Amino acid sequence: MTVFGILTGYKNGHLPSLAGADWERNSFAMTPHLIIRGGRKLSGDIRIGGMKNAALPILFALLLVQDEVTLEELPPVTDIETTLQILCNAGAEMERLSPTAIRIHTKNADPDAVPLRLTTELRGSSYLLGAELGRFGRAVTGIPGGCNFGIRPLDQHFRLLRALGAAIEEENGLLCASAPKGLHGAQIRLDFPSVGATVNGILAATRATGTTVISNAAREPHIVDLANFLNACGAEISGAGTSTIRICGIPRLHGTRYRIAPDMIEAGTYLCAVCGTGGKLRLENVCPEHLGAILSPLRKMGAEINVSDQDLTLERTGTLYGTVLETAPYPGFPTDMQPQFAPLLCISRGGGRIYERVWKNRFQYADELCRMGGNIRLAGDFADFSGGDRLTGTTVRATDLRGGAAMLIAGLCAKGTTALYDIRHIERGYPDFAAKLTAIGADVCTAAEKSGAR
Ligand code: EPZ
Repeated sequence: MTVFGILTGYKNGHLPSLAGADWERNSFAMTPHLIIRGGRKLSGDIRIGGMKNAALPILFALLLVQDEVTLEELPPVTDIETTLQILCNAGAEMERLSPTAIRIHTKNADPDAVPLRLTTELRGSSYLLGAELGRFGRAVTGIPGGCNFGIRPLDQHFRLLRALGAAIEEENGLLCASAPKGLHGAQIRLDFPSVGATVNGILAATRATGTTVISNAAREPHIVDLANFLNACGAEISGAGTSTIRICGIPRLHGTRYRIAPDMIEAGTYLCAVCGTGGKLRLENVCPEHLGAILSPLRKMGAEINVSDQDLTLERTGTLYGTVLETAPYPGFPTDMQPQFAPLLCISRGGGRIYERVWKNRFQYADELCRMGGNIRLAGDFADFSGGDRLTGTTVRATDLRGGAAMLIAGLCAKGTTALYDIRHIERGYPDFAAKLTAIGADVCTAAEKSGAR
């Protein structure tokens, strides 16, 4: 029986001793976890890193560019490390210039050398299909992993790649694609503006013969960043950021130096944290134009936000009010931010509701939040928050990347000590999150730090 199995059934955070010394003697406590002592106001500066969900497609796009590329602002997170490992195993030659910059070329890449087991560890590995088809005319990858939101179909990816001339089969847990006669341009309308399918379409079409037009395309900033990167390498892609993207295929791309855009979800997560605890946060390296749908509910909830060319500040000193959120593809309110608002709605005056319209199953964190005293009712594609809850520290786990960020925020807002397990999920997408939070006054440390220094 797992420890979490034992805890099931306890609600409202009435297990404070489990985050204390007795708990640490349990061998399970030796797995990496975070100790958060909540209830502090946070104040200070945080520098935002490069956007993970732009860096992933850009890294796979390197397979289309045989010349040397220098990438800056690569976020040092595990999903990026795994992707670099996949590329290097497949023959890419890479030099690390700093923790966030690399020089890399894929001249000698070999599609048969791709480590298939690693490809099952992240969702972004589906981009191998478009990139390898574009470069080698064939591709094999494991069924992509990533956060578990129920079934994550790839039918839109397949429709797009098939329209460009690829044959795709699923065999023994592998996706195998080939285009022996090469890829050709096509016109295709996606059923849903899928980020992943749009990325795969762009990757496959960049070096195809002729022109491809993708309509009802995803408009997320990561799509724009991918197109900007490929255009910097000589590609001819227009319309990224709108619903219609046009790609005129070209035979060869050249090397470049490229800086990845700042991560709007990392920025939004720290803004939520400080809006929840109260205090004042200044963010450096942000793109305010990407953040509109995140700033608007924060303002409604009582935060004062000022945006300048260089930075963005958020301050909340008064009441935290509830609100209603509804996720939607960009430029709507991002699904990747709804979990981080959940602890705020729990403690807000008036509570509120979150409608999840992108993923079928993205409220797994709700059980964990209820353990801490959250009063949440799930009903189909929405969750109701009664508000006015007093969150209390206890032992909880990160259910997925953003669900983990939500529990981190809950711990910061809670009274007492929270032990947060399965932080590997958070490490997939948030560089140096413990250090960044500590720098603004949070009491957050790993279990190892706790047994050593304290
Ligand atoms: C990307 O996932 C992000 N991941 C996700 O962020 C994000 O939640 C999602 O876009 C939506 O914004 C990466 O960029 C690596 P989709 P992706 O294809 O591309 C359905 C995070 O926290 N769909 O836009 O997989 C699908 O089931 C991660 O950083 C199909 O039906 O998302 C879902 O309901 C989690 N068929 C919706 O579309 C398909 O072929 C959106 O999926 C593809 C998708």
